[in-house]
Amino acid sequence: MGRVIAVANQKGGVGKTTTAINLAASLASLGLRTLLVDCDPQSNASSGVGFGRDPHRTSTYQILMGDVTAAEAVSPTEVENLSTIPAHKNLIGANIELVPLDHREYRLRYALDAIRQDYEYIVLDCPPALDLLTLNALVAADSVLIPMQAEYFALEGVTELLDTIERIKLELNQGLSVERVVITMFDDRTNLAQSVAADLRGFFGELMCATTIPRNIRLAEAPSYGKPALLYDPKSRGAEAYLQLAREISTRSSSTVEAKKSPVSE
Ligand SMILES: Nc1ncnc2c1ncn2[C@@H]1O[C@H](COP(=O)(O)OP(=O)(O)O)[C@@H](O)[C@H]1O
Ligand SMILES: [Mg+2]
Repeated sequence: MGRVIAVANQKGGVGKTTTAINLAASLASLGLRTLLVDCDPQSNASSGVGFGRDPHRTSTYQILMGDVTAAEAVSPTEVENLSTIPAHKNLIGANIELVPLDHREYRLRYALDAIRQDYEYIVLDCPPALDLLTLNALVAADSVLIPMQAEYFALEGVTELLDTIERIKLELNQGLSVERVVITMFDDRTNLAQSVAADLRGFFGELMCATTIPRNIRLAEAPSYGKPALLYDPKSRGAEAYLQLAREISTRSSSTVEAKKSPVSE
């Protein structure tokens, strides 16, 4: 059964999409069958794996509306073991169109249930808002990976995200947990970044990833070629950091899954 990881933070520009693309590609390169689902109307994760704008493509929008099954919306990518369900800008309308529909928060979950067994990981890229699209992703997910920048105000808004996760756990998805928090665009040469990173470690403790993602121009360039960093420049620090993150997460999730199998329930 595939593990569903939502990459979420309602702040924009913190590295969600870069993390979703490169984590998914790195998991795939470890031989794990992975699906990247773009839940953001901006469709940056889609273009980052080679799906440029196409007004006719089947996307997350039709899945949420119940017009197609998830299996029908899946396309292979250039990366072996990595498939994707791309987004479309009409997804912006889904926030309103979903409101009167039945099970409006569960639509992605129910759709992905049918294909979960085909993958080891399903990575969801969320929009920069705590809207119905992000809610659908968090309800569909087993865990949330939170990318954060080591800058002043990094923690601003995070309590709101953590409160939302707690509320979802109580009301909509008991199985949801915080996967980990990962520091992105890290520049370890500055004292500020180092001191903020230390604060974040103090705040999140065990939840912090040991891996940090450095600021690396290759990660910013790769999407314009429609490729994950692993294909664009596999030797770059950015590509290597995401590979390390994938190793850390895949090792840890198997131990979490083991723990969850034990008869002692939380
Ligand atoms: N580690 C990194 N090094 C350099 N640039 C990065 C890095 N991570 C993200 N970026 C760039 O920062 C911008 C915001 O990142 P993005 O992943 O789109 O954030 P979000 O999805 O949270 O809005 C993009 O232009 C992206 O290319
Ligand atoms: Mg994004």
